[in-house]
Parts: sequence; C-alpha cells; structure tokens
Amino acid sequence: MAESTATNDPGSWESYWRLTGTSPDLPVPWQFGTAEDMAPYLPLLLEGFDPRLPLVDAGCGNGGLTEHFTEHYEIVVGTDVAAAALEKAHTGAPHTRVRYEQLDSTDVAAVEALHERIGDANVHLRGVLHAMAPDRWPDALRGLALLAGRRGRVFDIELSERFTEVLAEVAARFGEWPGAIREGATAGLWPAELPGSELTALYRRHGWRLVETGELALSSRIRLPDGAFLHFPFNYVLADNQT
Ligand SMILES: C[S@@+](CC[C@H](N)C(=O)[O-])C[C@H]1O[C@@H](n2cnc3c(N)ncnc32)[C@H](O)[C@@H]1O
Repeated sequence: MAESTATNDPGSWESYWRLTGTSPDLPVPWQFGTAEDMAPYLPLLLEGFDPRLPLVDAGCGNGGLTEHFTEHYEIVVGTDVAAAALEKAHTGAPHTRVRYEQLDSTDVAAVEALHERIGDANVHLRGVLHAMAPDRWPDALRGLALLAGRRGRVFDIELSERFTEVLAEVAARFGEWPGAIREGATAGLWPAELPGSELTALYRRHGWRLVETGELALSSRIRLPDGAFLHFPFNYVLADNQT
C-alpha cells in the first residue's frame, strides 16, 4: 500500500502497524490487558447480539480483542485495512474459530462481497470511525448496514470528545504526553473528533435504530509518571438497522 502522510489514512495505519509493538518502548496504546479490561462491555454484546450469527470485528488491528470473542461466537472474522496489523494478529497461536481478512471498511463493494460469503453478521468496532477521515464515515456506515443485513446489529465504541481534555491534563501535570500517544501522532494518526452526540446522530442519519447508548472509561496499560494508568474515555452505541 502506498505510504502517505495524510492524517488517519490507510497508508499511515500501515506504517504505524509495521512499527508499533516491535519494542517495549512502542506499545499499542489500546492494548488494555485481559478480555475484561479490553471489553468490560461484553455483557452488552452477549445480551444484544443474536449468538447464531457470525461476529465481525471491523478494524480489529492486531486482533488483541478479536480472539476473546471466540469464547462466545462460533464464527469470528477480524478485518482491518492494514496488512501489517493482520500479520501481527496471525502471529498468535492459530485459532480455529477466527479468521482475518484485509478489508477497508469504507470499500462498500468489498464489504458486500464479505456479506455474500458469511451472511448477516453482528459487527463490533472499537475506535475505528475516529481512526479514519470523517468524509469516509458515510461509506463506513453503508458498509455496516450491508454486513448486518436484517438480523445483525452493530456495537460501536469510539473515543469521546473528552480524550483531548484528558491529554491536556496529562501534559499540564507531567510536561508531555505518554510516549505511546506521541508515537501515534508522529505516524500521522490522530483521533478524528466524534462527540457522543455526533456518534448517535451519525447512526440515526443512516437509518439505524439506537438500542442502547452510553459512556465508558477504559483503563489503558500506559503508566503515567505518578504510577496511575491513563484512562481512555469512550462513547458507545448498540444499534440495529431499520432501512
Ligand atoms: C485505534 S485502532 C483500534 C484497533 C482495535 N479495534 C482495538 O480496539 O484493539 C483503529 C484500527 O482501525 C483500522 N482502520 C483504520 N481505517 C480503517 C478502514 N478504513 N477500514 C478498516 N480498518 C481501518 C486501523 O488499521 C486500526 O487497526
């Protein structure tokens, strides 16, 4: 894939995934530890998703969370735009119920082709819309509708607008951002602004019915100089498609 310097474009993600995690100094910022640390919201998925459908973890990165889902879903497909992320996902112990595919979630034709192969699916996204340019969101939402079909639902959890405040507080107290955050920014990655009200408005505009919405802070494994872990504030939606 072509290298690029535009914020959050696929080329930046490719370069980032090639480097990150290659040394203890370059941790993956959203690698939060155990399944419970990574997805304390799992009960919402278990209650809200039809367990007979496949689960697609869209924008799965290095699969840190994807494989945990195999404990609950028969078929799990992890997709990501970055081949380098999926190479990292493949380096774990092979898991028979999970497979990884390179897929740009905004490539509507490619997403439709995946739906043709696996049928209606539930879709989990964590931190993926804010990891792409906002002008890609309409196609991403179209893709989600195709994947979910009539029976699937989407659970999308995205960094909240409070993240900038959290980082400003950290910089004010300790003089700089944590290294893992600086690394992402240097690679041309920065969370697109997606306040909770816009996240819900986006889904509604594209014909989704919001089953549940909320806020959640997840504790990262990034240590601040005072020994505390950096918390990431999130907003989430659980939605089904009425169109
Ligand atoms: C913040 S990371 C989150 C990774 C994973 N969901 C997690 O929570 O561990 C965002 C991910 O979205 C992926 N991504 C960005 N744009 C994408 C796109 N258009 N299609 C699919 N994945 C994309 C990136 O490569 C990256 O792995």
